[in-house]
Amino acid sequence: MQGGRGAEPRRIAATHDAVPASTHPSKALPLTEDSIPRILGAPFAPAAFRQEVVSHSFLGRKLMIVSRPGSVHHILARNAENYVRPDAAFRVLAPPIGDGLFLAEGQEWRRQRKMLTPAFAVRSVPRLSVHVVQRARPMLARLRAGPLDRAPLFEALRDLTMAIAAGAFFGIDLAPYADEVRALSSSYTKRLARGDLFDFFLPLWLPSPRDWARRRFRRRWLALIERIVAERRRPGETESLFAQLDASETPRGIFIQQVATLLITGSETTGAALFWSVYLAAARPEVQARVAEEARGVAINEENPAEALDRLPYARAVVNEAMRLYPPALSIVRRALADDVADGVKIGKGAIVQTAPWVLHRHRLLWDRPDEFDPDRFLPNAPPPQRYSYIPFGMGPRQCIGMQFALAEATLVLAMLLRDFVIAPTTDRPVTPVAQITLQPSDPAPFRLTPR
Ligand code: HEM
Repeated sequence: MQGGRGAEPRRIAATHDAVPASTHPSKALPLTEDSIPRILGAPFAPAAFRQEVVSHSFLGRKLMIVSRPGSVHHILARNAENYVRPDAAFRVLAPPIGDGLFLAEGQEWRRQRKMLTPAFAVRSVPRLSVHVVQRARPMLARLRAGPLDRAPLFEALRDLTMAIAAGAFFGIDLAPYADEVRALSSSYTKRLARGDLFDFFLPLWLPSPRDWARRRFRRRWLALIERIVAERRRPGETESLFAQLDASETPRGIFIQQVATLLITGSETTGAALFWSVYLAAARPEVQARVAEEARGVAINEENPAEALDRLPYARAVVNEAMRLYPPALSIVRRALADDVADGVKIGKGAIVQTAPWVLHRHRLLWDRPDEFDPDRFLPNAPPPQRYSYIPFGMGPRQCIGMQFALAEATLVLAMLLRDFVIAPTTDRPVTPVAQITLQPSDPAPFRLTPR
């Protein structure tokens, strides 16, 4: 979907650092940012939403937000070898996700990516989706049991996506460990997941003030994952990713970290995508009614999840539109290894470059009615978004390996949920997004559910 659809990028007005590509009547476009929610912990300058490039220097290092679609494509795909994850990403992400695929580099990354690709390819989605239906059903039953007037949907969806990742990828039943996993992972996201200036500017070999606590967390977290794997792994099973990891002779330490990578990357993001889909739909009964009607016409069960998916285009469009407005991976950050020109934008060696879905997806020059929730934009017959302007899963060689599965999972769960319940907010207070590695809701209120 992203990067592949649509016509050539419409050239948009250049700012400093950008060599003008052509002119665009930016003055005629809405320039107000009032409707953009503020993200706790990740301030984006209002100018970023109407300029192609915003940059500033801090302590001798250049920080850039690049939103020219051709430049985004150049950085993430065309010249991806010149752009690596910055040190801060390793500091913040290594404790919860370890040295699995997400943080691997060079030859080791190529090896891991090749090994894991078949497990997440399109042809694997039907098999993985069986687990989605199997685990979503008990969640719906628990919701039906109440309390209906204060249903903790955020928590329910977060636990569900973690259980699905454990079940679908590793055949593990996570239920006995759910409380422990939740307590430990939320202690990290609340206290240690946000990078500060020390994290950005200290070289990786020099621990930043938060790194000591992060190391302690990492030891406890990997010990917990190791214990779960040892206790829950079924002997001799050949179906799950364990078999593949065994066959590839992955060393034990990396093995456990790969499990941590896939459990966390495979659940936090999809949990966020689902929460924001529900949050946006809760304010729009007509959107919910349309999803429910579509879902009622399809038997969603373990035998046919893939067939069902093909018949849920509107539910999928709601998920896609929610990921436009609230992209779970709010920013994709790279460090330039050498001087470069990215589709006319000059990028110096060492610059920290953000290609931020949060900015791109609400950019005043790229979208019509950028802050309006309109799932119709993503219906199959709608004109596609401008090329490279919609990248919830990134693009290029490091594009999300779980993209197909995540879309399938979120679509199926949303369809099942809205088929069974009408969802309404319990408060007018908007939910504030907060950057906790992914874009999470800060202190979300429960929802009111009415069984259909
Ligand atoms: C809605 C859900 C999801 C979103 C929005 C999302 C988003 C992303 C993004 C933007 C990247 C690229 C990061 C970069 O280029 O720096 C990425 C990479 C990755 N994602 Fe996802 N993801 C989702 C679900 C999943 C799932 C279900 C899995 C399970 C396997 C997964 C595993 C990964 C891994 C392992 C990588 C690293 C790939 C690599 O570096 O080769 N993600 N994801």
